[in-house]
Amino acid sequence: MMPRYDIEAAGLSISARRDDGEALPLVRAISFSLPEAEITALIGESGSGKSLTATALLGLTDAEQYIVSFDRLRILDQDLKSIDDPSFARLRGTRIGYVTQDPGRALDPTMPVGDQIAELFVLHQGMDWTAARREAVRALDQVRIASAATRAQDYPHSFSGGMKQRIVIAGAIALKPRILIADEPTSALDVTVQAGILALLDELRRHMEMSVLLITHDLGIVYQLADQVLVMNKGEIVERGDAETICKAPGHAYTRNLVSAVPDLDAASVSPHG
Ligand SMILES: Nc1ncnc2c1ncn2[C@@H]1O[C@H](COP(=O)(O)OP(=O)(O)OP(=O)(O)O)[C@@H](O)[C@H]1O
Ligand SMILES: [Mg+2]
Repeated sequence: MMPRYDIEAAGLSISARRDDGEALPLVRAISFSLPEAEITALIGESGSGKSLTATALLGLTDAEQYIVSFDRLRILDQDLKSIDDPSFARLRGTRIGYVTQDPGRALDPTMPVGDQIAELFVLHQGMDWTAARREAVRALDQVRIASAATRAQDYPHSFSGGMKQRIVIAGAIALKPRILIADEPTSALDVTVQAGILALLDELRRHMEMSVLLITHDLGIVYQLADQVLVMNKGEIVERGDAETICKAPGHAYTRNLVSAVPDLDAASVSPHG
């Protein structure tokens, strides 16, 4: 069977606009695809262009600062060359979930967490608030917030970092997106909490048959969770392959360096109860 792809990007480039009018290339004509219902890990050292790539896919790159170009970009059934802004906004709002690195900033401190999720159903699906709040409780329940109906009324500050990130994930998956882009979803969290969050992501992805673009520095996570791996270095994809091969037999010197920094891949564990 032919693999199906939720994202196909060819020649995706991102440059920064410099004060002198020149463009500074940051992501250099990368091509990749996101197979349906699989986890694709995007790894590479700090500054290699991973987050810029994610923001370009989400249409969230600041146009005053950056120039985004591509030969071809297809997300689900939409060709981004010909899509208009409102359609892209709708695609992004409803079909792509986005989890940012900083759970603190993703949540509004002045609003109960349940209402923040309910608002998505009101805005994107035209639901009334009563129905939307019910859906929000369901979403919180799905990411295993205990006593979700009661907790939905609490404000972000009353949750731990790990719980906040579960709430952010609940918001990202609430509208049942086909694609989830998670940019270092656990790097702000304690190691003990990370495993539980990642296992949750994996479980949700299977359950909802989402494709996931997982940006991470952690080779242990890649080995445990990812199907496909893309390795970025200085704005280019320097190596790609299945997770087992990349982690156990990296071809590129740069990837070998990344891999050799992890003492024991098999010792890394991702359990739903962490
Ligand atoms: N406006 C800009 N002008 C010049 N350089 C920029 C600008 N914006 C971003 N950069 C550079 O682009 C590079 C890529 O940034 P990006 O945030 O995508 O990296 P990353 O791979 O996500 O790194 P990290 O792992 O630290 O999150 C960085 O080196 C950053 O300094
Ligand atoms: Mg980043």
